[in-house]
Amino acid sequence: MNDLIFRNVNILDGTGAPAFNGDVSVKEGRINEVGDVVEGLVSGGREIDAGGATLAPGLIDTHAHDDGAFFRHPGMEFKLAQGVTTVVSGNCGFSAIPADPTQDSVAASGGILAGLEGQFTDLDGYFAAALERGPAINNMMLVGHNTVRSLVMGGEKRAPTDTEIALMQQHVSHALAQGACGFSSGLIYRPGRYSETAEVIELAKMAAPFDALYTTHMRNEGDKLLEAVEESLAIARASDVHLHISHHKSAGKPNWGKVKASLARVDEALSQGQRVTLDVYPYTAGSGRMIEYFDLERVNEGFAEVVRIANCKAFRHYEGRMLVDIASEEAISLTDLVKKILTAPNGDRTLCIHFIIDENDVETNLAHADMMVGSDGIPDLRGKPHPRLFGTFPRVLGHYVRERGVLSLPEAVRRMTSLSARTFGMLDRGEIKSGYHADLVLFQPDTIIDRATYDEPMEAPAGIDMVVVNGQIALEGDQHSGVGAGQMLRYRRGAFA
Ligand code: ZN
Ligand code: CU
Repeated sequence: MNDLIFRNVNILDGTGAPAFNGDVSVKEGRINEVGDVVEGLVSGGREIDAGGATLAPGLIDTHAHDDGAFFRHPGMEFKLAQGVTTVVSGNCGFSAIPADPTQDSVAASGGILAGLEGQFTDLDGYFAAALERGPAINNMMLVGHNTVRSLVMGGEKRAPTDTEIALMQQHVSHALAQGACGFSSGLIYRPGRYSETAEVIELAKMAAPFDALYTTHMRNEGDKLLEAVEESLAIARASDVHLHISHHKSAGKPNWGKVKASLARVDEALSQGQRVTLDVYPYTAGSGRMIEYFDLERVNEGFAEVVRIANCKAFRHYEGRMLVDIASEEAISLTDLVKKILTAPNGDRTLCIHFIIDENDVETNLAHADMMVGSDGIPDLRGKPHPRLFGTFPRVLGHYVRERGVLSLPEAVRRMTSLSARTFGMLDRGEIKSGYHADLVLFQPDTIIDRATYDEPMEAPAGIDMVVVNGQIALEGDQHSGVGAGQMLRYRRGAFA
């Protein structure tokens, strides 16, 4: 007997196949029947006449920084509202684990992971603590280089000793043994930027016995994009692991268009048998911790011109404003303004948004075969966060699929579901298939669209009717059910329990 039946849905099964009309049923957290539903409904079960709406597997955000959000915002409204049922956290080299409960867990990430609570030290401990909050969606984790390095070496600007390498390897390996899907790096950030290629290889190697991933926010996404792609490919080859390049882009106007060369290099590596995948977010601005982008000795005013303040504890009234506007209002130079912000108490925790990407490059990326979608949303709801936190997936489906025709709907859904699930080792997820976990999104392909903007970044998208997580209705219309049915996922294994 079924717990939930969807009648009259257009089924996009996540494989890339065209939609077909039929019914889908759910039983004990899993998809039961697909196409024809003959089994009945348990008493208290729910039958929904969807009136021809599209039913797809729950969407997968391959690039999240939600490690702390599972504690601070376990309802995960900003993801559920987009139809996202699973995220991959621990990206860009910053992960909740390994942790030392006596140390400030957010220091290394500069607040990107803010919200973490509890006494955990490793992935099992983190999973248990996160599950206690009844998370609304599923979480898969990476173990981050910056976090591991900070724990073992602090902020040291040198190569590790043999003992330190061995200790870092132990941390990485331990997390992978407990179910992390890979090792992530963020080589533009501190302390990752102090590492040489050899160090990253020694750590990425730990993923090989698990056939897990090496994901990277590359050392350079601008002038030296192609060199950075080369380094990433070399690291993955030397460590014999699958490479996943995060938020692929070419940053800065002089570099616009370079993504073509970078993607061609990826295609070449693929044709030579190397395993490489990528993801992208559908916006022309990046976002991160402001202090990482400026050298206070020599402030790059050209870059400052495209920066907007997202979240600034030191100067709340700067939030949502471009630096150029603030500087002219205060009649100070951009250099002085940047120094004023970053040297104020808590100024180093300022988050900014920077308009560095070309719209054509976004489309080139989305048109590339097997390009996945990752929001890179920073789940800090104060101030004016980057709209990607609330809008990424509906923006791809509404703007780039429907309005721009960059890719087809079945293909976009495939890249957000089965491809991501397979790549990131999410067992029995990412397809509408009997026996698979019932993570589902019911939506209207003709109206789905993001509504979050830079000025109003927390507007929920339109066109999502219902989201089901592990067989439970998590969101219906704009009503959050409050059911915390999310699971902590382990790479190619059953969920943590
Ligand atoms: Zn990143
Ligand atoms: Cu990131």
